[in-house]
Amino acid sequence: MRIALLAARALIALLAFSPGSSSSSPPSKDKTFRTLLAVPASPELGRRSAPRASSDPRAAPAPALAQDVFWSDRLDGAPPAGFSDLHVKRWQLKARSSRLVSLERGCGRVSNRLARFSDGTRACLRYGINPEQVQGETLSFYLSRLLGIRNVPALALSRVNTNTEQWLRVRQDIQGSQWADKSIVSLTEWISNLTDVVAPPPLRTEGRRLHPLLEDLANVTNQEMLELVQWSDLILFDYLTANFDRLASNLLSLQWDSRVMERSTNNLHRTAKGALVFIDNEAGLVHGYRVLPMWDRYHEALLNTLCIFRKETAKKIAELHKSQNVANQLFEQYRASEPLAFQMGFLSEDHAEMLQNRTDRLYKHILQCKAKYSK
Ligand SMILES: Nc1ncnc2c1ncn2[C@@H]1O[C@H](COP(=O)(O)OP(=O)(O)OP(=O)(O)O)[C@@H](O)[C@H]1O
Ligand SMILES: *[C@@H]1O[C@H](CO)[C@@H](O)[C@H](O)[C@H]1NC(C)=O
Ligand SMILES: *[C@@H]1O[C@H](CO)[C@@H](O)[C@H](O)[C@H]1NC(C)=O
Ligand SMILES: *[C@@H]1O[C@H](CO)[C@@H](O)[C@H](O)[C@H]1NC(C)=O
Ligand SMILES: [Mg+2]
Repeated sequence: MRIALLAARALIALLAFSPGSSSSSPPSKDKTFRTLLAVPASPELGRRSAPRASSDPRAAPAPALAQDVFWSDRLDGAPPAGFSDLHVKRWQLKARSSRLVSLERGCGRVSNRLARFSDGTRACLRYGINPEQVQGETLSFYLSRLLGIRNVPALALSRVNTNTEQWLRVRQDIQGSQWADKSIVSLTEWISNLTDVVAPPPLRTEGRRLHPLLEDLANVTNQEMLELVQWSDLILFDYLTANFDRLASNLLSLQWDSRVMERSTNNLHRTAKGALVFIDNEAGLVHGYRVLPMWDRYHEALLNTLCIFRKETAKKIAELHKSQNVANQLFEQYRASEPLAFQMGFLSEDHAEMLQNRTDRLYKHILQCKAKYSK
């Protein structure tokens, strides 16, 4: 079975990592590639992550943040940079204050709607048959913001109520729906001209991976490299949220569809400028955590294909590991930005602990990659 193989291989690779040892350094030809990936030591980075005890925090980069497992600054900082905080804030304000003028079929399954605001702009509306769907969608969005991963479109919640200005003009559309009275739905910014995305070669083929090695990144064009940077965030994000509805489901499908990785990836699109857009995150954090025993081996297998990271994301994960309060930070951000936060609710204690555990697991994974590839 291909998946078992993949998982077994990943496990072997994982066991082969021995933190602290540099005897497993890759052969010297890899250095050619390192020069492409390597980033100069950043005092900023060192300062932030250095252990509190160190005498002069600026003296050296923190041991936890060596250079070799990060994308170069050139790739990291390059456009497409995704949805900025300002863009998200503005869109949310608009989405909460604008009138809806039509709700049409579109945006996927029958319970979703393509919504249009009075200024002509569109949004995808998601109605959850089960409340955990809108909750997962919403909390995944806020977690992406907390991590500085800017590939998830802006989202705002709204309570369906035809007595309010916002919903008045779509009263009839709502009457035709099967929605429960006064439900909370999510509105997501509509992104024009999206295209489908196939997994890149280093992640598509069994036995390949995305490690800082020449062999893993040979023949990759600059454009593809800019996309790989975003894939590295996608894998971390889906691991953290345990979202099986993108890549993990493909691994499962490999059993009966050996070419699934050559097809477009579910719930992933690309803008004309080359930014990846992670849509439909409703399986994340709530549903995904509930069904984790079934999916975790695929999440693990995917994580183990990855040993190159965006510096900013790795730094954020290190902070969230050290603080040991990722769920609190997520809640703060959610509460501060979403007026319906208390009504929609938050993660259970158990799921909050799982989020911390998975954050800690990512942190350890990054350390293991560093132990393997850093000088
Ligand atoms: N924010 C968006 N901007 C542009 N297009 C979108 C957006 N969200 C969804 N779509 C379009 O609608 C399709 C379905 O969206 P989504 O995955 O959110 O719904 P779904 O109910 O899960 O459908 P499916 O079962 O097909 O995945 C997407 O493949 C995409 O073409
Ligand atoms: C989308 O594509 C259409 C047709 O090619 C083009 O007119 C429009 O400007 C594009 N929109 C964006 C946001 O790129
Ligand atoms: C890269 O391209 C060369 C020449 O086309 C080919 O021989 C080699 O196998 C390719 N390497 C990978 C890892 O795909
Ligand atoms: C989180 O990890 C700790 C330590 O490994 C473990 O004891 C605990 O059961 C985990 N919690 C959850 C909810 O999985
Ligand atoms: Mg979908």
